[in-house]
Amino acid sequence: MFDFLKKNKTLPTFAPLVTDMHCHLLPLVDDGSKSLEESLEVMATMKQCGFEEIRLTPHFNYPRFPNKADDIKERYKNFCSEVEANKGERQIPRMTSVTGEFQVGDGFAEYMESGQLLTYRFSDPKRGSEKGLLLIEFSLHQKRMGLEDTVFKLQMEGYDVILAHPERYPYFDSRDKLLEQFKEQGVYFQINILSLDGFYSDAAQKKAFEYIENGWVEFLGTDMHNVMYAQALRHASANKKIIKLLEKNEFENRHLAVGQY
Ligand SMILES: [Fe+2]
Repeated sequence: MFDFLKKNKTLPTFAPLVTDMHCHLLPLVDDGSKSLEESLEVMATMKQCGFEEIRLTPHFNYPRFPNKADDIKERYKNFCSEVEANKGERQIPRMTSVTGEFQVGDGFAEYMESGQLLTYRFSDPKRGSEKGLLLIEFSLHQKRMGLEDTVFKLQMEGYDVILAHPERYPYFDSRDKLLEQFKEQGVYFQINILSLDGFYSDAAQKKAFEYIENGWVEFLGTDMHNVMYAQALRHASANKKIIKLLEKNEFENRHLAVGQY
């Protein structure tokens, strides 16, 4: 199954990151992996590309994916057992936490008020806010009013905020005042690795490199969803510009603590 994944050259390019902190490999909870087998195939490719550790981050996006934190934690526990029982000879990264990618949209306030925001921590206890690091995303289609208020409120409540793939929002560019303001407020940015390889669009690719050059980017993530993304990751692993970028820049991925908040 999924033999086409094996055609491209694969390099352990992402080994310096150690950890992938953004992927959708918990089957059937969002638009990510559709089965245990698919997740195992994707994870095997991630390992070949250099990742030692992965953090699952299913969408919490009401009403499209109205996931509940307790249910996701339970599914994650079962998934870890199934992976162990079925991985066979495959070499795969360690799974060390499930958190989420929370969309700032309808339903976000409810997640916040009911204490369902799942976060990571830094491994150094002196770093980071009281409630940990929260991965958020915005709508890809339209800029919602009041994004800055929500981000500010999260910070006031004791969360560190990581904005997922800022290069993918068509309404932001590298001179955007709101992005500048977020950086001044201490918001972390996470770029998608596949953006750097032109997987989504030329515009996203250009912005991904620009944001890194601006010194705006603390994290890189795969945002793996399925075997097609894994094939794209394999392709990205042989991209000379990406290999060079990883030699020149350090990211915070490896400084996340094992486990979740
Ligand atoms: Fe994602």
